[in-house]
Amino acid sequence: MSYWTHEYLLKTWGGPMVQAEFLRDVMKPFFVPRVFSGFNLFLDEPQLLPDAVDLIARECKSKRAFIVTDEYAVRFASKVMSPYKKRHGISFETWAKAQPDAPIDTVKDCAEHIKRFKPDLIFALGGGSAMDTAKAAWLLYEHPDVKLEILSPLVPLNLRNKAKLAAIPTTSGTGSEVSGVAVISFPDGVKLPVAGALPEFVPDFALLDPTLTVGMPPELTAGTGADALAHAIDGFMAPKSDEINQAIAQKTIEMIFKWLPRAYADGSDIMPRMKMQQAAMMAGIPLANDGSGISHALGHTIGGLFHIHHGVMVLLFITYELQVYSKVTDRYLELCDMLGVRDKDSDEKSLANLIEKIRNFMKSLNLPIGLKDTGVTMDDLEKNMDMILEQTPTDPGFYFGWYDLNQDQLKDIFLSAYEGKLLDMQSEIWS
Ligand SMILES: [Fe+2]
Repeated sequence: MSYWTHEYLLKTWGGPMVQAEFLRDVMKPFFVPRVFSGFNLFLDEPQLLPDAVDLIARECKSKRAFIVTDEYAVRFASKVMSPYKKRHGISFETWAKAQPDAPIDTVKDCAEHIKRFKPDLIFALGGGSAMDTAKAAWLLYEHPDVKLEILSPLVPLNLRNKAKLAAIPTTSGTGSEVSGVAVISFPDGVKLPVAGALPEFVPDFALLDPTLTVGMPPELTAGTGADALAHAIDGFMAPKSDEINQAIAQKTIEMIFKWLPRAYADGSDIMPRMKMQQAAMMAGIPLANDGSGISHALGHTIGGLFHIHHGVMVLLFITYELQVYSKVTDRYLELCDMLGVRDKDSDEKSLANLIEKIRNFMKSLNLPIGLKDTGVTMDDLEKNMDMILEQTPTDPGFYFGWYDLNQDQLKDIFLSAYEGKLLDMQSEIWS
């Protein structure tokens, strides 16, 4: 099966163009939704001043709105619908069949329901997969003939002729509520990010109600928080990252170090929940505007193959990303300064301190440092190594890194990651 990631021109020129500094400042789009955060986003009574309900209902002229959700988050659908029904007479249809990894057949089924109901407002309610499903189904509603697998990211999506999108996250990690990408999976196991020439998939509204994330089990809190931390570090380190996105990424990293341990320790403590929901949203902004990094290319391949949580995988590879990027940029020193681990006499020591800081943080959340801690065996890894080495460079996360890793370097990362051992940057492979 052919995908847009196999296009020769994109693979050859896409990466260098994304990294070109002169392009970064020639055109600097910065896409964010209108964001509301708080406990009072779904009130049945009108307020003294117009609130989120009024502002969003204004976009729903047909008085028909559609909710895309999954079997877990559907429990919040009545809370979401109630004020729109009572205060603005909007009618709803709910589709609650979103599946993990947003399989293409579920996306098409969702799009068929949307086409029949003809809403001009779509709510995406749930975690990353529900939002990805909603975004891709929204595109098929707007343009029924689009083929998602070969849709080049150089082509505009031309959304918003029929509907607008409001995202309501029920986990704190993917940043999908502010990101311009929908990750869809296909029957052959490929997970494909779909995006346009501009981040048009960035929702029109993001509604952050921390009560929707209360009670998340600690492992999910850690895994989704790990994803958010990886996005913030990726977003800070990406070649395309500019000062606007770096500022957001830095604050986000600080917030995650402060609040994730508290959210992990007590799932019902509402303040850490709110802060992590905001941090995950903030981490999604540089992700939407700068792209991810090689952590996501490496993590997608291994996580997809061995069915390991996305956030757990990408944070595991962040330390390797920092080592690899340190060959070509010293931007990581700003993170060392921020986290108080800079060694003024040695950049090498500073990097080691930064990695140690991140790994200690991971350990405090019971997140694995090495692949062997996730249940993967060396036999599993070696048996699949050819496929892993072939698939990783086709992941779009690879384009957003600083340079192409060769096959020996990639293999060295995967084998080192098995034990959780850091790379020997003085070895021949890395010189
Ligand atoms: Fe991610």
